[in-house]
Amino acid sequence: MTDQSVQIGGLTLKNPVLTASGCFGYGLEYDDFYDVAELGGICTKGLSLAPRLGNPPERICETPSGMLNAIGLANVGVEAFCTEKLPRLRERGVTVVANVFASSVEDFVALARRLDAETGVHAIELNVSCPNVKEGGIEFGKDPRMCARVTEAVRAATRLPVWVKMSPEAGDIAGVALACEAAGADAVTAINTIRGLTIDLERRKARLANRTGGLSGPALRPVALRIVWELSSKLRIPVIGIGGVSTARDAVEFLLAGASAVQVGTANFADPSAARKVADGLREYTTARGVAARDLIGGARQ
Ligand SMILES: Cc1cc2nc3c(=O)[nH]c(=O)nc-3n(C[C@H](O)[C@H](O)[C@H](O)COP(=O)(O)O)c2cc1C
Repeated sequence: MTDQSVQIGGLTLKNPVLTASGCFGYGLEYDDFYDVAELGGICTKGLSLAPRLGNPPERICETPSGMLNAIGLANVGVEAFCTEKLPRLRERGVTVVANVFASSVEDFVALARRLDAETGVHAIELNVSCPNVKEGGIEFGKDPRMCARVTEAVRAATRLPVWVKMSPEAGDIAGVALACEAAGADAVTAINTIRGLTIDLERRKARLANRTGGLSGPALRPVALRIVWELSSKLRIPVIGIGGVSTARDAVEFLLAGASAVQVGTANFADPSAARKVADGLREYTTARGVAARDLIGGARQ
């Protein structure tokens, strides 16, 4: 077997395959299927300071080559995560990336401080696709200045690596990513979902209670791949690719485009073992060709 490890800033992952936030619970739910410590890492469901119930149903529906979701960021809250979930992940040796979201810089900082106080958290991923209520409600991730401010404040509040998750809806994604890099981000992850809509013809109403939802799955992959290509050519920090990764071949595509690792999201809903299968397939692909996983990174750009 060739070397599967990759370096994301100061953090070494045993392989380049993680699970994406919101698509793998808190990791423990998948215990019956496989040992999640075999993965490069897991990204937790987005954590907030207080627990949240999220939106009323319907919150998910299938669309061509993908799905729409409007979960509304339901989660147990950072405190319950630290006391009830994290100790079991730590025991199992899982590489844990804590995905967090907030509606003010101060709350992002409070989340980072709380997670920093624990052992067993390996990185913090900032979900900046949420409105900054203190500054007119514009999403952090759409504005380079606001995204840099939150990155810089979190960077100063923790010793953990800070990853910033790019919104594909930012007009100037490269501008946002470069601002985050300058503010001290250790990596960017790309991409979050794109808003979509689907209508039930019998009820003549939107299929989701929230009306719009985030589009994910294979339908998103070419868009994500294009953004990963663009960001990895402009940034010095690593880019982690997300969007429709369902098979090892999809993961290879992202690595060749310039991603240093990938996250598997929606594919977990169809097959709970999807991420492990992607990691297994990537190991077979690289081993058959006598190359290390890291040798693929940016290969299509040379
Ligand atoms: C049901 C669901 C819930 C999600 N929740 C979060 C979340 O809490 N935080 C976040 O940053 N991204 C969240 N995402 C976005 C995914 O992490 C990922 O960026 C997106 O789905 C694209 O990857 P995929 O096509 O592999 O699913 C969620 C996606 C889905 C489908």
